[in-house]
Amino acid sequence: MSAHPATITTPIYYVNDRPHIGHAYTTTLCDVWARTMRLRGRSVFFLTGTDEHGVKVEKSAAARGITPRALADENAAEFKRVMSLFGLSNDDFIRTTEPRHERRVQALVKRLHEGGSVYLGTFEGWYDEGQEEYYTETKAKELNYQSPVNGRPLVRATEKNYYFRLSAFQERLQQHFADHPHFVQPSARQNEVLGRLREGLQDVPITRTNFTWGIPFPGDPQHVIYVWIDALFNYITALGVGEPNSDAARERACHWPADFHVIGKEILWFHAVIWPALLMALELPLPKRIHAHSFWIADGQKMSKSLGNFIDLPSIEGYFAHYGLDAWRWYMATQGPLTTTDADFSAKHFHETYTNDLVNTVGNCASRVGAMIGKYFGGTLPEDAERGGPWPDRCASAVRQWCNHMDAFELAAAARCGIDLLRQIDGMINETEPFKLAKDPANLPRLASILSQCAQTVRVAGVLLEPFMPSKMSALADGFGGDTCRHAPWEARSAYGHMQPGCAVAKLALFPRVEPIGKVLAG
Ligand code: MSP
Repeated sequence: MSAHPATITTPIYYVNDRPHIGHAYTTTLCDVWARTMRLRGRSVFFLTGTDEHGVKVEKSAAARGITPRALADENAAEFKRVMSLFGLSNDDFIRTTEPRHERRVQALVKRLHEGGSVYLGTFEGWYDEGQEEYYTETKAKELNYQSPVNGRPLVRATEKNYYFRLSAFQERLQQHFADHPHFVQPSARQNEVLGRLREGLQDVPITRTNFTWGIPFPGDPQHVIYVWIDALFNYITALGVGEPNSDAARERACHWPADFHVIGKEILWFHAVIWPALLMALELPLPKRIHAHSFWIADGQKMSKSLGNFIDLPSIEGYFAHYGLDAWRWYMATQGPLTTTDADFSAKHFHETYTNDLVNTVGNCASRVGAMIGKYFGGTLPEDAERGGPWPDRCASAVRQWCNHMDAFELAAAARCGIDLLRQIDGMINETEPFKLAKDPANLPRLASILSQCAQTVRVAGVLLEPFMPSKMSALADGFGGDTCRHAPWEARSAYGHMQPGCAVAKLALFPRVEPIGKVLAG
């Protein structure tokens, strides 16, 4: 087994919100990738967590008459509960109020200050209070002096603050983009960032004095570290960077740089420009790729609580109860806004996807192959005198393509590799009509070959679908070859022919046909 490390991160989520489809989406994508890499024998570090400081949390807590820490504790616990409800396999969950994070952020900011990348200066500009983001005059004018997110007016602000010398990294950043054309993906997003980068970079304030709920600036505690800087550092504080003698640093150092930071498109600038510049200033390696997905919308509109079209946690739980967790994961990973277009969430589309992919393809294929082996060969895998025919090659090619897609974070395309194998098996069954062949004993060797090829291929497809639907595919693996196959190393597990003649093949009912959820909800 190769212990080659693989690292993936989600954004850390604001604790002033309740978990909803957006959080579930990004985290599920990362989970599929993390499970894939574990399956392939890589040593995986999958990180998620909560972003707990800043004026927004301070204000929400005040509105409820509780302390910011009480609010953070309550909602961080809710995010953690949701992660386990969704079967997410994160290796760590970092909270920015944890001492390990706060200590390491202070050490890193101190290093930036001492190295001359941070200095004390005076700021005058436009501030988006909701987003806690500053804009230059040009940008503010372009936005009509309104927040691009919530439409509220930008406010004029003057402050003495510590600044990060972002402008000093303009050329190095441009060079990095030129040398790494896939640094930000999809490539249209890389072009967007490059366009804005070419307009020129200004130094950015990295401290605030107008609130206290944050990490104090080392050596000048009246200043609090800006929540975005604090938050970005989570990706390395969880690995012990900033505290070389910590256990985390000893055990996890090999996990930096990350293979992927997966984020939504609205936080790309922080990840593609500010974060890399901070890392350059610290002389640390940059993440290998940043994948910015688009947004789930509902019925063609932005999801919003006031429109009542928000897919919140109770709605998600409704889908779990009706279709099962794995069906939900499948819909997220294969039908979501992975690239540059937003994806419409609709109950009808969910139902169609479930029925076409899972009931009619995965479930049906596994059940008919299992049923025929049960009927004609007593439920054990028959010998195949044809030695797999074209199927070993087809499986090997599907596995290869699947690996390439997963490496590039093309999850929906990877999922298709598994589904396509099953569709081809369905095609062979329809063409060769084993149930007719079975009527004449002279056809027995041919029947044995066909059904063996079907079963071997279904097992391989099940392996490719496992990261998407871990529990259903575990049931499939149990039914097709059982333990000997499941615990084998990746090279063997993913190879055609891993099931031995004589091993048990079961008839499975993986995905029941159900009513559309709309009807159920309507009573
Ligand atoms: N705390 C910051 C991130 C700091 S990372 C160093 C933040 N948090 S957030 O709670 O607002 O979460 C934002 C993320 O949630 C988005 O980047 C995206 O991953 C996910 N989504 C939120 N709404 C979404 C949709 N409607 N659709 C898909 N994902 C979206 O920003």
